[in-house]
Amino acid sequence: MTLPAHPDSRSEILRLLRAADGGFVSGASLCDHLHVSRAAVWKQIAALRDLGYTIDAVPTKGYRLLSGPDRMLAEEIANGLATGLIGRRIEAFAQLDSTNLRAAVLADDGAAEGTVIVAEEQSAGKGRLGRRWSSPAGVNLYLSIILRPPIVPQEAVMLTFLSSLAVARTIESESGLRPTVKWPNDVLLNGGKIAGLLNEMNAETERINHVILGIGVNLNMQRDQFPPDLRYPATSLALELGRPVDRVTFCRALLCEIDRLYRDYLQSGGEAVRDGWLMYFHLAGQTVEVTLPDRTVRGVVQGLDSDGALLLQHADGHRERILAGDVRPL
Ligand code: BTN
Repeated sequence: MTLPAHPDSRSEILRLLRAADGGFVSGASLCDHLHVSRAAVWKQIAALRDLGYTIDAVPTKGYRLLSGPDRMLAEEIANGLATGLIGRRIEAFAQLDSTNLRAAVLADDGAAEGTVIVAEEQSAGKGRLGRRWSSPAGVNLYLSIILRPPIVPQEAVMLTFLSSLAVARTIESESGLRPTVKWPNDVLLNGGKIAGLLNEMNAETERINHVILGIGVNLNMQRDQFPPDLRYPATSLALELGRPVDRVTFCRALLCEIDRLYRDYLQSGGEAVRDGWLMYFHLAGQTVEVTLPDRTVRGVVQGLDSDGALLLQHADGHRERILAGDVRPL
């Protein structure tokens, strides 16, 4: 007796079609493998087509996968994702208010470390300092990751450097273009902001309940899609490359990079993150102006302290540790 399709049978059909590498898979073998009826297989093929997969159906041969959709689907991101921790659970949404808000709800409900939330579009994307993050549909990456690091809250700042380093490395490996990082947590390409990070923490005095790494990367956004009132120059990878990029491939590569860096951080501490980040930091040795909440200071950037503070040498020789502020090269 054949049963109606199991909810996972859609992913399994997709897996089998992918494994055939463009070749046909007979309807009979799909039915046998999944223990479902031909009608149930057909229903799942129709559902996959609705999601944007192009699947050929030839009566004597079966089905073959011709192309996948340009959509951030959980099955697509998970396909071939070689991570140990990050992405063990992936939730993908067509629309959300904010992936960080959704991640916070899931984290409060006990979602495991490494849970990933992505959305095609955000109606209330959160930026730093209460600002909005422009999040039009279908063009960029809006991603949040739930972490539960066994560290004290004061050390969590290193995770900001970790995520901007991961974004910078992924941009470089996927495009061949060399980005820079802006202290404390932006990523720039050719002087335009291409990615923003918003890490949010839920902690008690001595322990962290969870940290949400919120990452927005402008991938295929066109000039006219940027808000007209932006306070800084912004860009996207497609604008810099002159061609669109595959968002799923980028997302998978970024998750792998974060997975590697985070596991190394837990095992060996923040030194590799700090050193890696400094390789993309182009302001060392330069004179900058830093806008602090209560004043503006000038000095020469000397590097990064072990806790992520910016080290600034003033004209009179004294050194200041900057914990938060907006840095501008002079
Ligand atoms: C910044 O202001 O530079 C930080 C922007 C962070 C945006 C990302 S998009 C995914 C995640 N969800 C949000 O609501 N914000 C972050």
